[in-house]
Amino acid sequence: MQTLTFELTEQNLQEAIELAGSLLKRGEIVAVPSETVYGLAANAFNDFAVNKIYLAKGRPANNPLILHVAKRYGLLSELAKCGLIKIEDMSELAQVAAQNLMNLYWPGPLTLVLPRGDGVSQAATAGLQTVALRMPKHQFLIKLLENLEFPLAAPSANLSMATSPTSAQHVRQDLSEKIPLIIDAGSCKVGLESTILKISKTGQVKILRYGAITPDTLIQDGFIIEKETSELLTQKIEAPGMFALHYAPKAMFFYVKSPSTLRLEINFKLEKRCIVVIALSDEHESSEQFAAEVMRFFADMLVEGEIRFKTLYLDHGGICVENVARNLYSTLRQADALNPDLIVMQSSESTFGLWLAIHDRMKRAANK
Ligand code: TXA
Ligand code: MG
Repeated sequence: MQTLTFELTEQNLQEAIELAGSLLKRGEIVAVPSETVYGLAANAFNDFAVNKIYLAKGRPANNPLILHVAKRYGLLSELAKCGLIKIEDMSELAQVAAQNLMNLYWPGPLTLVLPRGDGVSQAATAGLQTVALRMPKHQFLIKLLENLEFPLAAPSANLSMATSPTSAQHVRQDLSEKIPLIIDAGSCKVGLESTILKISKTGQVKILRYGAITPDTLIQDGFIIEKETSELLTQKIEAPGMFALHYAPKAMFFYVKSPSTLRLEINFKLEKRCIVVIALSDEHESSEQFAAEVMRFFADMLVEGEIRFKTLYLDHGGICVENVARNLYSTLRQADALNPDLIVMQSSESTFGLWLAIHDRMKRAANK
């Protein structure tokens, strides 16, 4: 199958919506931009179409998808009326909390896990009794959803186990020839996948995946977070895909605050003689120091012969967490493309806000 990339401009927005819309209505899959990462979309009411997503991505069938809804689904009652959720399975407190969350953060990078309605494709929810719902904020995706009579099931548009794509180029790398269309709207604004929340009977929220709606924001807005964040990594699997499988670079990957904590296996060999350092900023003392310490670490190991060191930076001129998040996945793809033995990434000391989402993803990558 030939993959067409359609470059979105302000002038051709309508044309793009018609093109993507006509394929989606025919049960095809299309890669679409969102404010978080690119998604691979299909009609969420059509099992046949949804199965194409799993096939193209090589995604295990037991890993459910997120359903993206249009602005007209801003009320819980609306979601229920269309068979997306079962409102009667929610306590009153849970209903209040869910509606508040929707009012505050939709459209935006927040996914809510709610009791599944009968209209949802079984394939999209992998047979679970719950459904993950999000109202995206990207101008193209909002308009596309407005023009469709069905929600869009869309996981990130990467091959299973690869990093989420934050540009059309990343989607092409993974899915070229496997999908008919990519709508190219440039780089994604957030660069990390949405925050996923579950709501308890008492109306408290549980974070199943960290993202741009941070614990601090939720607390500030009056929500009570159910579990200690540090327990998240060892917690029982609630979001099947995230905990059992996750992205890891092909090279050995370390995510550390200081290279002095690097631990290599005794028989470790630098076969390709290449090490990539990912530092936080090209103009920050801590990053300079970090890169120098990685080099010293290997010098101290008395590794013989020449080693190539390549340093990539997540931000320029300073360290802004939004920039780090936005550049994270593309930098990891770049690092892997250099085919090194080892990638050593600098972790920030900060554990505030969006850093939590970054630490969470990178710790998983390092724990492959
Ligand atoms: O920002 C995003 O969320 C992007 C864009 C495209 O919207 N999508 C995305 O989808 O990251 P995906 O499939 O890569 O991640 C969805 C995660 C998976 O880990 C899946 O296990 C979890 O959501 N999930 C889906 N339905 C669920 C459910 N009913 N209960 C718990 N977790 C669920
Ligand atoms: Mg994904």
